[in-house]
Amino acid sequence: MVQRSLPPAPIGGLAGLRAEAGRCTRCPLHGPATQVVFGVGPPDAPLMIVGEQPGDTEDLTGVPFTGPAGQLFDAAAQEAGLDRTAAYITNAVKHFKYRPSGKRRIHQRPDAGEVTACRWWLDLERATVRPKLILAMGATAVASLSGTGKDILTRRGTFETLSDGTPLFITVHPSWILRLPDPDQQVQERARFRADLAKLVETM
Ligand code: URA
Repeated sequence: MVQRSLPPAPIGGLAGLRAEAGRCTRCPLHGPATQVVFGVGPPDAPLMIVGEQPGDTEDLTGVPFTGPAGQLFDAAAQEAGLDRTAAYITNAVKHFKYRPSGKRRIHQRPDAGEVTACRWWLDLERATVRPKLILAMGATAVASLSGTGKDILTRRGTFETLSDGTPLFITVHPSWILRLPDPDQQVQERARFRADLAKLVETM
């Protein structure tokens, strides 16, 4: 576990942070992206949900988890009894990283430097919302929060403690499930994802 303390909560709250993040040039990803996709949800949410980065849809809507991964998450959350609207949802990286391919924009995983640069905003969101619990989905979110995204498949479904004492619950990223080529495995993994979320709900 990396020992890091959070910055002081900013005076302007989430609205101020969001406006500032809209002008962010801390890494090159702001250039090709349409807009910053900042976190959404109640400013005092007990649960913070952290994904990797906005996808193609989110880059256009400006709201996290509104594309296919968000739909998978919403369905699993509903079945698990997790109320998305009561949580603050954000990403480890706030701009969409992609490679153009004809008319399509192909998702590219953010590198360690981009994740580190954008942790600035995630730390400020954490310092402002002060969630009682954080759900990290996928290796990028886990790496940004805990210092390493290794062994995600053995760490999933378990709790860790962040250096400020906040409990971290780990699961896979819904996009990883969507990318599985075998439909049977997708069904199994959707069920496991739902079970992870249900375990989280039990502890809340
Ligand atoms: N994947 C993420 O990690 N976050 C989003 O907002 C959308 C897709």
